[in-house]
Amino acid sequence: MATNEDNLKAIISHAKEYGFVFQSSEIYDGLSAVYDYGQMGAELKKNIKDYWWSAMVQMHENIVGIDAAIFMHPTTWKASGHVDAFNDPLIDNKDSKKRYRADVLIEEHVEKIRQKIEKEVEKGTKRFGDAFDEEQFRATNPNVLRNQSKIDEINLRFKVAMDEEDLAAVKQLIEELEIACPVSGSKNWTDVKQFNLMFSTEMGSVADAASTIYLRPETAQGIFVNYLNVQKTGRMKIPFGIAQIGKAFRNEIVARQFIFRMREFEQMEMQFFVRPGEEMKWYEYWKTERVKWHRSLGIDEKYYRFHDHVKLAHYANAACDIEFDFPMGFKELEGIHSRTDFDLKQHEQYSGKKLQYFDPELNESYVPYVVETSVGLDRTFLAILSASYTEEKLDDGSERTVLSLPAFLAPVKAAVMPLTRKDGLPEKAREIMEVLKFDFNCQYDEKDSPGKRYRRQDAIGTPYCIMVDHQTLEDNTVTIRDRDTMQQERVSIDQLEGILQAKVSFRKALTA
Ligand code: GAP
Repeated sequence: MATNEDNLKAIISHAKEYGFVFQSSEIYDGLSAVYDYGQMGAELKKNIKDYWWSAMVQMHENIVGIDAAIFMHPTTWKASGHVDAFNDPLIDNKDSKKRYRADVLIEEHVEKIRQKIEKEVEKGTKRFGDAFDEEQFRATNPNVLRNQSKIDEINLRFKVAMDEEDLAAVKQLIEELEIACPVSGSKNWTDVKQFNLMFSTEMGSVADAASTIYLRPETAQGIFVNYLNVQKTGRMKIPFGIAQIGKAFRNEIVARQFIFRMREFEQMEMQFFVRPGEEMKWYEYWKTERVKWHRSLGIDEKYYRFHDHVKLAHYANAACDIEFDFPMGFKELEGIHSRTDFDLKQHEQYSGKKLQYFDPELNESYVPYVVETSVGLDRTFLAILSASYTEEKLDDGSERTVLSLPAFLAPVKAAVMPLTRKDGLPEKAREIMEVLKFDFNCQYDEKDSPGKRYRRQDAIGTPYCIMVDHQTLEDNTVTIRDRDTMQQERVSIDQLEGILQAKVSFRKALTA
């Protein structure tokens, strides 16, 4: 049976072979945790961005989008707390000299215990068949209960240690749990230290006069500092949202697992400004809305779960993650945070400018509260790619690798192919391309046998292959092959635009 690691390896190599993701500066042996998107990846990524933007901005009259700069005034990061508190607790193994995030070591240990619980549940399912009551089993089985209480105790100890900034207690927890270095296998650890994740550089050409500026570690602050600009110029009434898609940078220490944890990545964030006291209502609202968005991608429900934060970020009064079952297990895909009025108040204090809203219904001014939804674009890409990647055995004994991407996100919507390279078939296929290319990203492909061409398109997730054959010249019909069913249907060329439109437009997903 393929392990999770095998799955991840297969996805990484598929992503490279078909031009989705390359290691950055590969000819120089790459740059750790930095990746480039190739010709297919760039299309898929763009489609994900467009779909998110449509769902958040186009579908909500009270949400508008901006595009703020990556560089911001350095005081921004003092005000936001990132200079002082955007740290990871790090620990080194003295034997392997490898550096780890202490919280990740603990999380991975907890995940192992959780997997024991899942194994126990799986055994129960097999043993009791249809009569199996999973909820009752989880609530009563002694092994499940014992392991769950271990998890709860570890999480609680970790939370207390981090809340009290007691790094010695974090180290003690790692030692008591007998966590070993995955490389050396030893438990010979240094003390835990805090490490700031922001990248910095210098602005200005003269070294003396240059000031340190940061590459933004989240896009959110670009929204906060523009809150009043947008509210005033857009005449926005609370509740309203500001959305943004853009690059963020973090000097991640545990930077592995492909595009899951990168040093340069993209976020799709939305800050929703609400009346103080109403933030929990909107927090619940956005939790539901964002799950709906993920589910609209057509990925099975079993891939998703919620995780309420044990340790809240310095700005939040409630926070949860939507986790996805990536090839390396359940991990954070999106964060939903109730950020209170922390950020706007901090910016008021540091800038000396009022960032208030006059509420005509209440006849009073206040600093709005903020509910944030923040999803990683690269993680969404990985989630979609890994859930879509399928190696299929066909009835005739052959195999195919297919990316069952949601059709509306597929990099190429249709491949147009002449059956042979003669008899005027290529010219006819080109004519079809010339019409379809205005609305759909299409590929023209005449090389190799039809079977090979179909496989190539399956591998990049193209929902439709349009084949021009000799009958086309007689009656203006083509065959159109569906990626998932592999069924071919003969249709008139006039119908093609309508068929593609129905399958690849965002509309169906947005109204699901
Ligand atoms: N403004 C809130 C914020 O930045 P976060 O939970 O630190 O919250 C939000 O990040 C999302 O950004 C995460 O859920 C994840 O999808 C993505 N993300 C964070 N760090 C990342 C990294 N190093 N590589 C790829 N994606 C990352």
